[in-house]
Amino acid sequence: MDRRTFAQRVSLGAASLGLLQTADTGRSANAAEVPQPGEYDKNLPREPVKVNDFQTLAAAKLPKATFEYISGGSADEITLRENVAAFQRIRILPPLLTGVASADPSTTVLKQAVSMPILLAPVAGQQMYHPHGALAAARAAAAAGTVYGISSSVGHSVEEVTAASTGPKWFQLYVPKDRKVARQLVERAEKSGVKAIIVTVDLGEWKDADRRNRFALPKETLVKHLRDVGFTQIVDSMSYEEILAFNGQAWDLTFSWDFFDWLRGITKLPLIIKGVLRKEDAAKAVSLGLNGIVVSNHGGRRLDGMPATIEMLPEIVQTVAGRAEVYLDGGIRRGTDVLIALALGARAVLIGRPYAWALGANGEAGVRTVLNLLREELLNAMVTTGCAKISDIQPALLRRP
Ligand SMILES: Cc1cc2nc3c(=O)[nH]c(=O)nc-3n(C[C@H](O)[C@H](O)[C@H](O)COP(=O)(O)O)c2cc1C
Repeated sequence: MDRRTFAQRVSLGAASLGLLQTADTGRSANAAEVPQPGEYDKNLPREPVKVNDFQTLAAAKLPKATFEYISGGSADEITLRENVAAFQRIRILPPLLTGVASADPSTTVLKQAVSMPILLAPVAGQQMYHPHGALAAARAAAAAGTVYGISSSVGHSVEEVTAASTGPKWFQLYVPKDRKVARQLVERAEKSGVKAIIVTVDLGEWKDADRRNRFALPKETLVKHLRDVGFTQIVDSMSYEEILAFNGQAWDLTFSWDFFDWLRGITKLPLIIKGVLRKEDAAKAVSLGLNGIVVSNHGGRRLDGMPATIEMLPEIVQTVAGRAEVYLDGGIRRGTDVLIALALGARAVLIGRPYAWALGANGEAGVRTVLNLLREELLNAMVTTGCAKISDIQPALLRRP
């Protein structure tokens, strides 16, 4: 890897790990999709009725660089837009007179009962959106009866997050180079009661806004967390350059499939791979005995130009053929998006920005509301399509381009 690419990747690692300094400068050249903070002040929704209302509220409330960190995508944001637009190209064709008056959206993920097939994706830096950060989001997920995905890069330790609520949690792992540290992290997660490990394999954000803003999450919170997991060489007084150097040395950006064999050897927890878009990779994941696959392009935050996740879902579902659970994230903004993803074979979906915006706008209550809105929209979509239960949601409901 050349020097610049490497520096970029580690600096983005540093951003997602909360270690860089924030400077509130300039605005993304690709900000067309992103409301300007303050821009909507005159039209602020008094009562949010849809996910995107929270984007508007968060834009008005959060510092510009923080809002752009959440909302933006890599480079020209083609993938970011496509994640949403691809759902909008799919039509739902409901059968008539099905006699369905109510619906039950409950299901299971990895044998865990959940109230609905909508889970919270791992999202970094939550203390920056609200002082209670991951604790607030985890409580909201528990109240909604669904899974909270704990990011490797939140300011609370895995023990603090698991203690914050009784709801089911998955722990997301970015892989430290030092396998002793990785092992310690996984063992702590397992001991604290998480139900699965999600290994995120699509690293390397390339977001113009973050680079222009020299965006960072608050250093102190992450420094504590990293020390907790064994990075004892990291200290409060490190300079930006020292942090970049530390990142280059600490994180494994080039691990390969054999990592999963190693991981399987140290934990009994179900293993989920996050970041799959190609059916060949899905087949490999299945052959390694992984339990879950998240079809994801990191919410359009990684390599711009990658396809929308919903477009890749059907062939991955076909390849996996029931041998692992397949989830999808990226672009879920409506209950109908959830219905479409399930009709195309997803076991459940994960949301990222919707709850990050809600956390920023109104803390735990905001996240509860966003989950409730999506649940209500999904219920409406299920009743309208004659689906009394999740297993009634079938591909025949859809017309695809
Ligand atoms: C602000 C932000 C931070 C994120 N941090 C992480 C992270 O720490 N680990 C990870 O695996 N994915 C991370 N993601 C990606 C999400 O888990 C998820 O794949 C993505 O947000 C889904 O797209 P959506 O935002 O359109 O719902 C992050 C996403 C956002 C928006």
